[in-house]
Amino acid sequence: MKRFFVILIFVLFSRNSYQENYVDGLIGDILFRTETRSLTVPIKSSHSKCQKQVPAIFFKTELNERIRGNGSTIHYMYVEGCCDGYKPYPYDSNRCVPDCKDNCRNGICSAPNKCECMDGFVANASNHCIETCPVGCPNGRCFLNGTSQCNRGYELDPTQRYCTAICNNSCGRNQVCMRPNECACLDGYLMTESGCQPVCSPDCGYGTCIAPNECKCLGNAIKKHRICHNFSDLRCENGVTESQYKCNCRVGYIYDSNTTSCLPDCGDECKFGVCISPGECRCYRNYKKKDTTCVPICDKGCGFYGKCIEPNVCGCGEDNQKCKNGVCNSRGKCVCDENLYRYVDSCVSYANLSRIVTNPNEQKRYNIELLNEFKNHIGKYFIFN
Ligand SMILES: *[C@@H]1O[C@H](CO)[C@@H](O)[C@H](O)[C@H]1NC(C)=O
Ligand SMILES: *[C@@H]1O[C@H](CO)[C@@H](O)[C@H](O)[C@H]1NC(C)=O
Ligand SMILES: *[C@@H]1O[C@H](CO)[C@@H](O)[C@H](O)[C@H]1NC(C)=O
Ligand SMILES: *[C@@H]1O[C@H](CO)[C@@H](O)[C@H](O)[C@H]1NC(C)=O
Ligand SMILES: *[C@@H]1O[C@H](CO)[C@@H](O)[C@H](O)[C@H]1NC(C)=O
Ligand SMILES: *[C@@H]1O[C@H](CO)[C@@H](O)[C@H](O)[C@H]1NC(C)=O
Ligand SMILES: *[C@@H]1O[C@H](CO)[C@@H](O)[C@H](O)[C@H]1NC(C)=O
Repeated sequence: MKRFFVILIFVLFSRNSYQENYVDGLIGDILFRTETRSLTVPIKSSHSKCQKQVPAIFFKTELNERIRGNGSTIHYMYVEGCCDGYKPYPYDSNRCVPDCKDNCRNGICSAPNKCECMDGFVANASNHCIETCPVGCPNGRCFLNGTSQCNRGYELDPTQRYCTAICNNSCGRNQVCMRPNECACLDGYLMTESGCQPVCSPDCGYGTCIAPNECKCLGNAIKKHRICHNFSDLRCENGVTESQYKCNCRVGYIYDSNTTSCLPDCGDECKFGVCISPGECRCYRNYKKKDTTCVPICDKGCGFYGKCIEPNVCGCGEDNQKCKNGVCNSRGKCVCDENLYRYVDSCVSYANLSRIVTNPNEQKRYNIELLNEFKNHIGKYFIFN
């Protein structure tokens, strides 16, 4: 024992590239590591890409852009994405790999929700890959002679590969003995008054949840995207069809007659952006996030006295008089950069100015702006008959 100890000290202090495992081996037991690593191994899969239709509105990036989808209606866009059960490969989003919903540590996700444990690991009663001797032995220890011994309250499982907790009274349906004399629901199940019940999220609609995320439809109900609908006339994504004409949306979604589906809802907060998930607004170009809303960006700021009312348009004074490409001064007036000229509601270059004054369309626009300004700011002191 003493000799082992001396060698161990030597190994620890000689800064050689000894493998951690080698040091463990010298002690006799292999240390149980609480830290487990997860590996992401790319899997070849050729049939994991699918054509999907997503609401075209999600492609809108500019306030005045009109989006025309190329899907089955103009309100949908065809996109190529990973099929159900697959997800983008983190290091190359053009590829899709099977999705085990983060439940495949120490294993390889070889098919949707199918995790194969790597060598040195074994699936425990709740389907997690845990270390097995000689790599390690949670709730027990491994000996170099190939045997293992479980801690108090644990015993070797029938395959003799890992330690399982002992529960004196056998556990109920969909339960597993998690710690000595402590039963718990299996993953995907939730404790209710009637024991551990499977959880389906989102819920099944006109169906019952018979296993985690698996619905069985009632009566004539039709399954669409895992959820049971009474009618199929509406797409009713993120909701459940209540009648031929009515789709009941899930919390956080609102019905959209264009797509006949429920789209994420951000309330009135998302006037200058697209609501991409409940409460999450993606701002249009030239707008930025402020609290929960999107506000316009004025590149040069608006000065201490002005405020940005449209992209690169400041509002000056009490009346928010428009000041495009300029800033406001303390008297509520629009101030232009040195080389620019003030023209009605804008700061323009000399070249633009001459173009404006000679172009009938531009003149028309500026006349309208002048009229607006008159009505809004000056005209309010007049009495019209
Ligand atoms: C539809 O439009 C999207 C977005 O522009 C594009 O990525 C996709 O390839 C188009 N699909 C078809 C079938 O035209
Ligand atoms: C294996 O080693 C352990 C610890 O040294 C010992 O208790 C056990 O009896 C050994 N088992 C066999 C089968 O040799
Ligand atoms: C299990 O039951 C046995 C016999 O009744 C008892 O001796 C033991 O303490 C119990 N185990 C636990 C962990 O309660
Ligand atoms: C299985 O292993 C996981 C991960 O270590 C653990 O959280 C879970 O409690 C284990 N299940 C059982 C039944 O021991
Ligand atoms: C819709 O579902 C409910 C609940 O299962 C059922 O009672 C009703 O008959 C269904 N309606 C139709 C038209 O299928
Ligand atoms: C429906 O689509 C039309 C044309 O694309 C659009 O003008 C209208 O605003 C959309 N309605 C809703 C509620 O989104
Ligand atoms: C001049 O006009 C062009 C074209 O309309 C525009 O993009 C540019 O911002 C204008 N610049 C100024 C300083 O007025």
